[in-house]
Amino acid sequence: MVAATQGGEQGWSSRTAFVLAAIGAAVGLGNIWRFPTLAGENGGGAFVFVYVVCVILIGLPMVLVEIMLGRAGGGHANAIGSVADVAEQSKVSRKWSIFGGCEVLAAFLILSFYSVVAGWVLNFVFISGADFFGSLFSGAPLAGAHVGEPQEAVTGLMGELFASPWRMLLLHALFMATTLGIVAVGVHDGIEKAASWLMPSFFVLLVLITIYGAFTGDFARALAFLFTPDFSRLSPTAINEALGQAFFSLSLGSAALITYGSYVGSDVKLAPTAGMIAAADTGVAILAGLMIFPIVFTAGLDPSAGPALIFQSLPIAFQTMPAGALIGFAFFLLIFFAALTSSISLLEGPVAWTIDTFGIARRPAAVIVALASFVVGVACILGYGAWSDVRLLGFWAIFAETDILDTIDGFTGKVMLPLAGLGLSIFAGWRADRRLIEAQTGLTGGAFLLWRGLVAWLAPFAVFLILIFGLFPWLLG
Ligand code: PHE
Repeated sequence: MVAATQGGEQGWSSRTAFVLAAIGAAVGLGNIWRFPTLAGENGGGAFVFVYVVCVILIGLPMVLVEIMLGRAGGGHANAIGSVADVAEQSKVSRKWSIFGGCEVLAAFLILSFYSVVAGWVLNFVFISGADFFGSLFSGAPLAGAHVGEPQEAVTGLMGELFASPWRMLLLHALFMATTLGIVAVGVHDGIEKAASWLMPSFFVLLVLITIYGAFTGDFARALAFLFTPDFSRLSPTAINEALGQAFFSLSLGSAALITYGSYVGSDVKLAPTAGMIAAADTGVAILAGLMIFPIVFTAGLDPSAGPALIFQSLPIAFQTMPAGALIGFAFFLLIFFAALTSSISLLEGPVAWTIDTFGIARRPAAVIVALASFVVGVACILGYGAWSDVRLLGFWAIFAETDILDTIDGFTGKVMLPLAGLGLSIFAGWRADRRLIEAQTGLTGGAFLLWRGLVAWLAPFAVFLILIFGLFPWLLG
């Protein structure tokens, strides 16, 4: 078998390496772009509250399920093979691996638009970088980016990008190629190395910018916004959105954790590791909110600006802030680092499957998957221009108005990830061999029973109900 197997030359070199890579997979655009956007659109505190509940009661137990299935799945590095293998060891139908297939497909689709959005981030890394180094060399104080320019010029930066499909295409290609370059090298020398550089840099930048925001921005108002729940603003769709976001942010339902889990050695205790991943991911999402909203409020901007929040609102804010050029550059660099470690994990799942299924080597497998995903991303870009009228799921009320990118984003996040989670929670909670699972998780006694109860009872019911009412809101009348 060509596949990377646990403990083999392709496995993680240490537990720390695995934890960093898995946190790298979890922390990404979901935390810094999507979470603050969703919180802003859904009224802040109430959304944050539901989100955290979803993470603790459903997300965290499912993180353990996925890593455990990966490691338990024999020598298979791919999500389908792992689930099939555990099913076989448990003497139940191999068909449960359909949910593994759903995960691989979701990863492939998410990667396509993820790389497009990461391309937007790159655009601002370049612009703010030019501003920063420009002001450094001209000896000007590190005042705001585009100092002295009228606000419309800064507001126009995003419009300019969206009006130029070629620029988006180039940035998308650049980001995908970077991801590909790392995954093609392998688990140990590529993925692990990248995470061990990028994640520490990311954390340093995050802490520094948050402190900066706390001193220069309206921190109190940001705190109130994020932590004072107004439950009247919670709709079934918002709850569905919170659950989908929890799955997306934790990298659940998209092959990443199963695949990364398959490279973990048998000596690693999985339960505390799952806890660290969930805690780090949620912590970063909330810190990102505390980093962004003080700046947004101080500049008098609208917290519910939607996806434009970080690409349009923040550059305006940076323009007026002390050392804004430096902060702007650091901010977009930070998002880029986070996005890269996530896209790596998005690519790795389908690549591991391609290696296993077609028996080809890692490099060609990585090239094929990245190229195919790139093409789907191109369709997303066309959705902002020539194909702006295309509605992929136009027959479905909740997707009737969404362009190609938002449709793929919405369908994977709100439908595919929860569905895979639903299937695997039933599988792990009811069908998989109990002793096998107990040994893999390393949980004993009450902790095991609690975990299993959440996986077998709460997760399937909650996910099912949220899916039904979120996707078909008219059912509630
Ligand atoms: N969790 C990543 C983020 O928050 C995205 C991701 C989803 C990565 C699924 C891997 C798998 O940005």
